[in-house]
Amino acid sequence: MTNPRRVLITGGSSGLGLALATPFLRQGDYVTLLARDPLKLAAAVDQLNKQVPGGRVGIQVSDVSGPNIEMDINRVVEAMGGLDLLINSAGILREGYIEKLTEQDYRQTLDINFFGAVRATRAALPHLKKSGRGHIVNIASVAALTGVFGYSAYCSSKYALLGFSESLRAEMKPQGIKVQVVCPPEFDSPMVDALDQSRTPENQAHAQTIPKLDVDTVVDGVIAGLGLGSFLIIPGRQTRLMTFGIRHFPGISRWVSDRSIRNAYRGPN
Ligand SMILES: NC(=O)c1ccc[n+]([C@@H]2O[C@H](COP(=O)([O-])OP(=O)(O)OC[C@H]3O[C@@H](n4cnc5c(N)ncnc54)[C@H](OP(=O)(O)O)[C@@H]3O)[C@@H](O)[C@H]2O)c1
Repeated sequence: MTNPRRVLITGGSSGLGLALATPFLRQGDYVTLLARDPLKLAAAVDQLNKQVPGGRVGIQVSDVSGPNIEMDINRVVEAMGGLDLLINSAGILREGYIEKLTEQDYRQTLDINFFGAVRATRAALPHLKKSGRGHIVNIASVAALTGVFGYSAYCSSKYALLGFSESLRAEMKPQGIKVQVVCPPEFDSPMVDALDQSRTPENQAHAQTIPKLDVDTVVDGVIAGLGLGSFLIIPGRQTRLMTFGIRHFPGISRWVSDRSIRNAYRGPN
């Protein structure tokens, strides 16, 4: 094992954050999972101990949108003896018609998905600077590259996170800290299981225009992307093709999504 890294994953108790812990543990890195629910964190550690016996995994109960995040990250850094890689994966999703979402839905989504990543990043920066190989990976979404029916709050938060990541990359490069951002399409996770209980038919139809991935394919895409080093990581070959269309032929992309929505349209009333 050469030069293990100290890795902090926010949102590490579930879904992509949890799945990403495995490859790092397998290569001997020290991983700490941060999330709000201590029971979910304990279950995540049990799962990882079975998958990677002897792997070094820690937990930190914390809310990225809460007042203690800086103190909690300092505690993690003390326990690991430093920090080399921060992965901002904590996130929530509120889906619904703009007329039905509340202002609180917007505020909470921005507070966790955007400000949560900003806060965790700012708290981690002094430690990443000391590392000498500091690295930040922000988990955004394809919803940071295109508007999606029902995702007005979620897209806003992910567009903001992508913008933050762009500036962060530019500012951190001279300081030797690498910044990458991941834009996955929809993938199987507890977040999507919950969404499926209540999503609007238009969101369902719109989401289906980009094929859903399993979480392992997303993990493989992220790990490959970290190795390649490019700023924007888009897991899945078909996703890369679709997002090429979204970015370079936005008019065609809107026409395709409008057509899928028209066929499914029910509306807020
Ligand atoms: N699933 C998808 O289709 C999809 C697609 C593109 C991008 N993404 C993004 O990928 C990331 C992971 O999503 P996922 O599907 O894996 O979701 P998930 O299974 O619901 O996991 C979300 C994680 O974030 C934690 N979390 C939520 N709010 C938090 C807070 N305020 N403070 C600290 N931790 C918090 C959750 O634990 P607690 O609730 O216990 O805090 C959990 O560990 C998110 O940023 C999501 O937006 C997901």
